[in-house]
Amino acid sequence: MSETQKKFYLTTPIYYVNARPHIGHAYTTIAADVIARRHRLLGDDTFFLTGTDEHGQKIERSAAAAGIPPQQFADQVSASFENLWKRMGITNNDFIRTTDARHKRGVQKLFTTLQANGAIYLDTYTGQYCISDEAYVDGPPGVVCPDCGNVTETVSESNYYFKLSEYGDRIAQLIESGQLNIQPDSRRNEVLSFVKGGLKDLSISRTSFKWGIPVPGDESHVIYVWLDALANYMTALGYGSDDPADIARFEKYWPADLHLVGKEIIRFHCVYWPAFLMAANLPLPKAITAHGWLLFEDSKMSKSRGNIVRTETILDAFATLKPKPVDLPGAVLSDEYWKHQQDLFASDVLRYFLLREIPFGQDGSFSFDALVQRYNSDLANGYGNLVSRTLSMITKRGGLITEDKIAALDPNFMANDVLSYSVIAQTIQETEFELEKLSFAAALSKILSLIAMADGYMTQYTPWKLVSSPDPIDQHKAEFILGSVARMIRIITALLYPVMPYATAKVWAQLGLGSIEEAASKGELKDLQWGGLKSGTKLGPLAPIFPRAPKELIQIMNDMEQPTAPQKPDQPVDLPHVNSDHDAAVLKPSAFREAPISSLSATPALNPIAQSIHPISAHHPQPIPAQAAAPATPDTPTIAIDDFVKIDLRVARIIVAERIPKADKLLRLEVDLGYEKRQILSGIAEWYTPEELIGRKIVVIANLAPRKMRGLESHGMLLAASHDDHGKPILATFAEDIALGSRLR
Ligand code: MSP
Repeated sequence: MSETQKKFYLTTPIYYVNARPHIGHAYTTIAADVIARRHRLLGDDTFFLTGTDEHGQKIERSAAAAGIPPQQFADQVSASFENLWKRMGITNNDFIRTTDARHKRGVQKLFTTLQANGAIYLDTYTGQYCISDEAYVDGPPGVVCPDCGNVTETVSESNYYFKLSEYGDRIAQLIESGQLNIQPDSRRNEVLSFVKGGLKDLSISRTSFKWGIPVPGDESHVIYVWLDALANYMTALGYGSDDPADIARFEKYWPADLHLVGKEIIRFHCVYWPAFLMAANLPLPKAITAHGWLLFEDSKMSKSRGNIVRTETILDAFATLKPKPVDLPGAVLSDEYWKHQQDLFASDVLRYFLLREIPFGQDGSFSFDALVQRYNSDLANGYGNLVSRTLSMITKRGGLITEDKIAALDPNFMANDVLSYSVIAQTIQETEFELEKLSFAAALSKILSLIAMADGYMTQYTPWKLVSSPDPIDQHKAEFILGSVARMIRIITALLYPVMPYATAKVWAQLGLGSIEEAASKGELKDLQWGGLKSGTKLGPLAPIFPRAPKELIQIMNDMEQPTAPQKPDQPVDLPHVNSDHDAAVLKPSAFREAPISSLSATPALNPIAQSIHPISAHHPQPIPAQAAAPATPDTPTIAIDDFVKIDLRVARIIVAERIPKADKLLRLEVDLGYEKRQILSGIAEWYTPEELIGRKIVVIANLAPRKMRGLESHGMLLAASHDDHGKPILATFAEDIALGSRLR
């Protein structure tokens, strides 16, 4: 790094390994890659980090559900992230895993530093415990368990606490002074009001599970997952190592210039993380930017796979558009090489779409229709068409970019041009400004205005007509117009490069400019000027960049997202996107929760051995016998239809499912009834994991009076069938799609 060269250290959140990546994860990684590429082309010594977050109870449980050790489970899922980023051409400089030895060492060092600085103390939590239910109960000593009626006992559990309460004023001051730059402003205000509401000390160890980094010197505790996870930003650089190369890297790049995160984890990054760093006397990150959530439109696709869109679906589908380019003479290029080229092309499409479609910082809906539509309008018909028609006309005339002769020949020629040099120069500046602010959608819309300007210019002067005119002046005009548009294409392409590195590399080579990566590293893509495409430049070989996407592609992607066969137990399972270990300030977008382990199609609509249908309440179920005896003929009293209609049975979808701390049998569910969302507590924790439930369509008794359990309101009941009072309750569901809120009659 030269003395004048700036460094730029950029991170993504490290992704949980309880589920394979989906386009929500890709969204953050893509945005970070765009930022990293832009900083590199500006000449900054850029370090871009991503990785995986692999500890915690959630992952321990997921591994147990898959029947494999947690490390093996984490290895598999972490590899699926790393491989996807490679497939997409992501240019991260490192990939950190929290199970790496380098990370564990760094986290333990951070913990001991915090201890040595007096920021940690051991304290005991005392509460009422129901031995029979193995659950904590709120209330004074001797309170009776609301579930089983037994008298509770007083128990104590010790935890390490971090003195977070001491940092509120300093954090508020840092945020208000702008030293800690939180973007967008709405998030900054959210964090400030949280901090000003008063901070409580934070429990930073757990004894309830083992899958974590042990507290140094007290191995019965593991370090709280967020302290473990946040430290990745330093451990990846070498924090905690004695190796001089690691120390030098850490000193060179720390603190982070930008932590890019999803909006739900802002509190961890803007409050806990700065407080940990202050307590350890380490420099604080300069900026934290939170983007919004990708939501998946609630239409036919949600019925099949719980609203997940896999990045692979888009890569595979768009790769089919790319005709395999003709092999260069003499070059031996493998199938893998072409396959990778196709992935990079498809990845560009996704990159463009996500950043153009959704204003960065806001939530946005994802849909395959919109993806294909925007691809066709902006890329195939817009940029791609401009490039191919301009460059093919130049190629037909010999492929040379020629000198500007027209001004001398006909000074009035430019008088009323659609193409205005000053507007172009201004648009370049504005685009740079928007990119700097991470307003990708605005920047792309400016670039589109340049494409529209070039198209308008072509329409104004119709070079395709001029080229066939016998008048030599017309020929010069045609040359000038085509040369000018080619010069605009160079500017447009340079501006688009961070967003679409693959496609722009192709256009750059077709312009006869060689490698765009090289141009980026030489600083030729910044401070863009009009004259960058010199006369005498010979265009490279042409090939279509953005073939039109047929409408069928939408269906193909829909079909690819249809449920597959139930997963084998030895495969990593797809689990919902929930922060059960991490008491996140905001719930994750329900629309983006991952497919349940057993997908809807794998769920029997009616269990053959389930003979009675009943609402689920907390109970003590027993396993279903392999050969269940047929239940006795029902002897329930007859009711009139009037009695039945009093029960308001409705179709609902489970959007949140989580365990209730210290209540082993109960799950807290949030269900979407179409017309409203509400909370239901259900005693099915022994039979269903939260992960299995999210996304499932069920039947709810909607007009049941609300009641309180464990201090939480439960409003409604789920319907399920079981063989007898002790059998596994099998949730009632639907074999065909039905709108939420529909009434069962
Ligand atoms: N492991 C923690 C982060 C620790 S960082 C020290 C975590 N992991 S996560 O896998 O649940 O998600 C992390 C990030 O993935 C989100 O903050 C966000 O950047 C991205 N996204 C995951 N789902 C997303 C959407 N549906 N939409 C947009 N981004 C999403 O939290």
